[in-house]
Amino acid sequence: MFDEPGFPSDPDYDATAPTLHTFVYCSRAADGVEEAEVNRLIESAQRHNLTCGITGVLVFGSGVFFQWIEGPEAEVRKLMASLHSDPRHYDIVSLEESVEKRERLYANWQMERVSADDILEVLQDALESAEDENNIATLKRIVDHLATGSLDSLGRAQ
Ligand SMILES: Cc1cc2nc3c(=O)[nH]c(=O)nc-3n(C[C@H](O)[C@H](O)[C@H](O)COP(=O)(O)O)c2cc1C
Repeated sequence: MFDEPGFPSDPDYDATAPTLHTFVYCSRAADGVEEAEVNRLIESAQRHNLTCGITGVLVFGSGVFFQWIEGPEAEVRKLMASLHSDPRHYDIVSLEESVEKRERLYANWQMERVSADDILEVLQDALESAEDENNIATLKRIVDHLATGSLDSLGRAQ
């Protein structure tokens, strides 16, 4: 029966999974944006994200941000517009943008600050649960960059 039209044969297919918009990017912190400012930014991001269903991770290290954002399309698009005009960072490089029906990778994180040292582990976990081929390719590319250098090289290479 699972091969009949309308019954995808993929055993992981979940018709109840939400349609998620995902945006992954890296950027450079503006002059003067350091630990205290990043902590303030995270606090207000968590409050806002909780109200609009956005989850993800933010990494800050060596003056570079890396952020994974997932949530309802309209909300993620609004946040993307805000991010693009936020003077606290510049040189935004889009690494991934997709809209697909899937479960969240970071369901319990309204925006978790992850240290640059831990990002490899976080991304490897994400890679293990990722199913979308594009997500997998992007995550592998980022993991490779991190394995061979710093977050700075991730920004320069794109
Ligand atoms: C690196 C970085 C990551 C950010 N992440 C978020 C976030 O996850 N959620 C959020 O609401 N704002 C985040 N912000 C702040 C937004 O850019 C923006 O200031 C905030 O959403 C308020 O937007 P508005 O002034 O257009 O209402 C982030 C800012 C920076 C620089």
